[in-house]
Amino acid sequence: MQIIRHPAEMTAWAKEQAKAGRRIGLVPTMGFFHEGHISLMRRAGQLADQVAVSLFVNPTQFGPQEDLAAYPRDFERDCAMAEAAGVTALFAPEAAEMYPAGFSTTVTVGAELTGHLCGASRPGHFAGVATVVCKLFSIVRPDLAVFGEKDFQQLAVIRRMNADLNLGVEIVTHPIVREADGLAMSSRNTYLAPQQREAALSLSRALALARKMAAAGERSAERLTAALLDFIHAFPETAVDYISFVHQDSLQPAVEIDSQTVLALAVQIGGKVRLIDNGLVL
Ligand code: PAF
Repeated sequence: MQIIRHPAEMTAWAKEQAKAGRRIGLVPTMGFFHEGHISLMRRAGQLADQVAVSLFVNPTQFGPQEDLAAYPRDFERDCAMAEAAGVTALFAPEAAEMYPAGFSTTVTVGAELTGHLCGASRPGHFAGVATVVCKLFSIVRPDLAVFGEKDFQQLAVIRRMNADLNLGVEIVTHPIVREADGLAMSSRNTYLAPQQREAALSLSRALALARKMAAAGERSAERLTAALLDFIHAFPETAVDYISFVHQDSLQPAVEIDSQTVLALAVQIGGKVRLIDNGLVL
């Protein structure tokens, strides 16, 4: 596996692959790999000849009060895991290489996709994500890019940007990978104190409850939301950021749920750890 630090070198690598007729699959990440990341790398390996992973904790997608400095990092471990997963190029630039002095461009996807859900409590987050992913697509020039479905709003934003800017990258998605107890895997799970683990399960259990109620015939998003709010708040140290039933593509709120409705959840655990989860309800 080649470790590449500079955008120009990464693009040179990409051009070599293209010249040799090899398809590139990109997995954009912020590192601190877990089985969720590894499954994205394996998926890219099934679909492309070369797997490139970007490892960049992107400062522009963190708010001033967020966890940029504390975000978990372990470069040596990540390299070993990526190599074992068949990655051929690991792109790990410094922030100054991605955002050199004078950098002045932001990619902003419209408020209908970015103004609610995580976008409401994390202003500027999706502009940071869209900008860095656009840059990664330009630098790595992948044929396809694989993203996890846990970041469901991010996925909608990236699809829109990719289509609107004619970037031509095939966007491949991969289902949420969960711990044995149902907790969606996330690098941020390492922030959870042992006693907060039970509270963290409130998200996947709320999803299961919504599915059970829907299977029993409940279709009202309002009644489901009220039931889930009570259910999650019964767990200690939980504060609901949002519980939303939205259309899986448009992300617009559903009044009555149907087979296209996704339940999206964000919950603060212990005032510090913000976890998200989502899934189709019916
Ligand atoms: O999902 C993530 O890890 C990040 O938002 C991404 C897509 C790598 C952009 O920094």
